Amino acid sequence: MKTKHILITGSAGLVGSEAVRFYSQKGYVVHGIDNNMRKYFFGSDGDTSGVRESLVSSHKKYHHHDFDIRDELALQDLFKSVRFDLIIHAAGQPSHDWSATDPIGDFAINATATLSLLENARKYSPDAVYIFTSTNKVYGDSPNALPFVELPTRYDLPTTHPSYDGINESMTIDKTTHTVFGVSKTAADLMVQEYGRYFGLRTGVFRCGCLTGPAHRGARQHGFLSFLVRSAKENRPYTVYGYKGKQVRDNLHVSNLVAAFDAFYEKPRPGEVYNMGGSRASNISLIEAIAMIERLGKTTIDITFVDTPRIGDHQWYVSDVKKFQRHYPQWRLTHTTEKIIEELWSA
Ligand SMILES: NC(=O)c1ccc[n+]([C@@H]2O[C@H](COP(=O)([O-])OP(=O)(O)OC[C@H]3O[C@@H](n4cnc5c(N)ncnc54)[C@H](O)[C@@H]3O)[C@@H](O)[C@H]2O)c1
Repeated sequence: MKTKHILITGSAGLVGSEAVRFYSQKGYVVHGIDNNMRKYFFGSDGDTSGVRESLVSSHKKYHHHDFDIRDELALQDLFKSVRFDLIIHAAGQPSHDWSATDPIGDFAINATATLSLLENARKYSPDAVYIFTSTNKVYGDSPNALPFVELPTRYDLPTTHPSYDGINESMTIDKTTHTVFGVSKTAADLMVQEYGRYFGLRTGVFRCGCLTGPAHRGARQHGFLSFLVRSAKENRPYTVYGYKGKQVRDNLHVSNLVAAFDAFYEKPRPGEVYNMGGSRASNISLIEAIAMIERLGKTTIDITFVDTPRIGDHQWYVSDVKKFQRHYPQWRLTHTTEKIIEELWSA
C-alpha cells in the first residue's frame, strides 16, 4: 500500500501534537510545522518545545519544520517537495485577548496564512483532504442572546429550548461581536469552505468548543481547564471574569477531535462545516470546574471574581454535534469533563 503523507501545522500544539501521534502510529510520514509561537504569545506557560522534542524523539517518520506559516517561500518549498494526502491546519493565534494587542499579526497568522496553505494545496496537493480547526467564535456573541436561566452553579437553557442540546451550524455569523480573533478565524473558516465549494478541494471546517488534553500548555489567556488545573497544582491565583463564574463551556478531549478528523479524512464531504465539542455530554461552568478540581486535588484555589466579562465572551456555549454524528455515525465521544479533569490532574 502507498505510504501516506500528511502535513500538520501547529504540530507541537494541543491539536497538532495529538494528530502527529495518531498518524505516526498508523505508519504515515508526518510533516509538522511549528515555530513555538505559543511561547511568543503567552510566555513560558505556552512553551511547546518539550512537546516538539518528544515527538521528534518518539516518531522516526515525523519531520519537524521550524518555520512560521507566514513564511510563503518556506511553505512553497515544502509543498513542492511532498505531495500530501491529508493536511490538518491547526496552527493559529488562539486568544481573544492577545488578538486585540496585535490585530494585524493575528489576521496574518489566522487568516492570510490559511489562504497561503489553501493555495499551496490547490497547486501542489489538489487531491489532499484539508481540515481546518475553526472555532465557535465564528458565531461571535450571538449565543448570549439565548434565554438562559440562572441556576445555583451555572447558566443554562430550559430543557424544552430547541438549543438545549447545543448550538448548531444554523446560528448566524453576522451582526455579532466576534473579537479580533473571532473575525480572523471567521475569514479563514469561510475561505476554507470556499476552496471546497469553488475549487472543489476536499476541505472540511470544524468549529470547536473548548478542547483540551494532557499536552495542553494552558496559559492565562488560553486553555481554561488546563490552566485552572495548573493553577491548583502550583498554588497560583486564578481570576474569573464576569457572569459570577456561572458561564458554561463544553469540553472535548483532543483525541475525540482527531478521531473526528480521521472519519472526515476517510469519507470527506467537501466544503462541509461542523460544530464540534463536548456537547451536552461534557460541559461545565467555571465554578463547577473549580469545585471539581478542589475536590479532586484536596486543595483550595485562590480565586478572584471580576464583575465585567471579557468582551464577546460566551455566557453559555454547548456545541450541537448531531450533524457530524449523522454524517459519521461511528464517531464516539469518550470523555466527560470529569474524566478530562482527572486526566489533566494526573498528567
Ligand atoms: N484549544 C481550544 O480550546 C480551541 C478551541 C477552538 C478552536 N481552537 C483552534 O484550534 C487550533 C489549534 O488549537 P490548539 O489548542 O492546538 O492551539 P495551540 O496553541 O496549543 O497550538 C497551536 C500551535 O501552533 C503554533 N503556531 C502558532 N502560530 C504559528 C505560526 N505563525 N507558525 C508556525 N506555528 C505556529 C504554536 O506554537 C502552537 O504550538 C487553533 O487555531 C485554535 O484557534 C482551539
